[in-house]
Amino acid sequence: MAACFSPATGAIPTNPLLRPTSSTGLKSPHQLLAFTSKRRISRISCTSSDGIRNDRKAPATRRDLLIGMGGIYGSAALDPSIAFADPIQPPDLTKCGPASVTTTGPTVQCCPPFKGPHNIIDFKLPSPRELVRTRPAAHLVDKAYIKKYERAIQLMRSLPDDDPRSFKQQADVHCAYCNGAYDQIGFPETGLQVHFSWIFFPFHRLYLYFFERILGKLIDDPTFALPYWNWDSPPGMNMPAIFTDPNSPLYDPIRNPTHSDPSFMLDLDWSREDIVVSPEEQIKSNLNLMNTQMVSGAKKRTLFFGTPLKAGDAAANTGQGSIERSPHMNIHIWTGDPKQAHTEDMGNFYSAGRDPIFYCHHANVDRMWDLWKTLGPRRTDFTDPDWLEAAFVFYDEDKNLVRCKVKDCLDSRKLNYDYQKVPIPWLDTKRTPKAKKKTLANAFATEKFANAAPPKKRELTPLSAFPLVLNKAISVVVPRGKRSRSVAEKEEEEEILVVEGIEFDRGNVVKFDVALNDEDSTGAPAGPQDTEFAGTFVNVPHREKAGAPSFKAVLRLGITDLLDDLGADDDDTVVVTLVPKVGEVKIGGLKIDYITD
Ligand code: C2O
Repeated sequence: MAACFSPATGAIPTNPLLRPTSSTGLKSPHQLLAFTSKRRISRISCTSSDGIRNDRKAPATRRDLLIGMGGIYGSAALDPSIAFADPIQPPDLTKCGPASVTTTGPTVQCCPPFKGPHNIIDFKLPSPRELVRTRPAAHLVDKAYIKKYERAIQLMRSLPDDDPRSFKQQADVHCAYCNGAYDQIGFPETGLQVHFSWIFFPFHRLYLYFFERILGKLIDDPTFALPYWNWDSPPGMNMPAIFTDPNSPLYDPIRNPTHSDPSFMLDLDWSREDIVVSPEEQIKSNLNLMNTQMVSGAKKRTLFFGTPLKAGDAAANTGQGSIERSPHMNIHIWTGDPKQAHTEDMGNFYSAGRDPIFYCHHANVDRMWDLWKTLGPRRTDFTDPDWLEAAFVFYDEDKNLVRCKVKDCLDSRKLNYDYQKVPIPWLDTKRTPKAKKKTLANAFATEKFANAAPPKKRELTPLSAFPLVLNKAISVVVPRGKRSRSVAEKEEEEEILVVEGIEFDRGNVVKFDVALNDEDSTGAPAGPQDTEFAGTFVNVPHREKAGAPSFKAVLRLGITDLLDDLGADDDDTVVVTLVPKVGEVKIGGLKIDYITD
């Protein structure tokens, strides 16, 4: 704690990203220090409260000064809540270093062609007089659109490699922000990572915004809009055909060859193994997963967006939101080539942007953000200044370096784009409990074979056995703090299952599934086709900063609706089944918790 009060000694930052671009009226070092010390006091009270953050470093004195300055930039200058805020800062492009592919794998260079000093401009919304760009579903586009889109990508591919608008540089934006090329300013030990937390949606929205505008500018079409991969609806549950023509600039040869056939169905819960089921079963499983991730398991903001990430926090797979975890991650791995050393291109963050399909995949991820906000009264953006003020830098269509904040991108209509409307078939999917299906099957079996064995109960692993290596499916009885709650109480507080202390190698594909009250051990454990399925944990291979310590991840699943569907809300305990699917993982423990946000 004492470290929090060490005096600030820093000078005015030399990083051009942090220099004010407009006059703020608050410039003297004394004023900066006043902000700085206030912030420190707030920091002490806030570090203890949420229990979500991890490995928070003692604040560096120079950083404190920088953050103090961060609060006095721009129009928010006089809002005291922002002066106390601790948002993620844009990276210092001059300090971009090599990115690493995996934990032990090679490093790659994916820094922007930054030959500073550069003038960095603050983001401005596009003129409302611009025509709206309507992003079409990829399976619904016509020939004229495909021609236009191919031409735009072709032109982008033929820009010189050191042009920040070139396809190579655009792909490298993802690599640099995701594979440890940047430190957080003031935290040389902590890499900047835009996945696994509440900055996932806004970062990728802004990234696509500029990518789309660059393409539009290259073909001189201010209405050009990226297509979206409508994987949440049956006609979009395959690789969109526009990406599969080997002669098209939209093609990428480094993909899973089996999945590159548009007649092969996409499994949104893909576990690195093709289990071919009937199209009806696959659709049911996919729609159930979508419903879990968008509706029943995403009733609180932190469950949908992911948990807070503030300056100095390491985003180490700790706080993924539901959609980011699945199907977003699964589709990355499903698309990448399993024969490549690091599941390139889509199956690793450093290379994902090299496949044009990446931007189409992320357009649908982005669409989920818009849709989620229409699903109920509490489905709103965060108002925490630590989210709103978090910032990134991108090159725009005129090669300007632009500093953007999360608060700039909350409303896609203000960014002048929208999505083509299509039916949303996952809104009210009805699941069937596996237990019921079994009972029917057993009744039938008993008639036919008089002495058929009754369903076997899974063996139970005691909570005291944790931490443990998850090398087989295990079931654990977990106590619930509250039961038989009223509708109003359930609205207010979401019951969540927390899988804590998850350890694994971040350079590998890892997946395990979670089911509730799936006690019959005679069949396969519950999957998204069954009511009992609570969710899944997925890691796309990536690397934090080279040499960074390894962190334990946390999985949080909203289960209030699920317990109701299972008729289990009056029980004192719930049986949690953990099923390893891919890779090696160690689990620290399980608990039930109740959250309001
Ligand atoms: Cu930045 Cu789909 O990942």
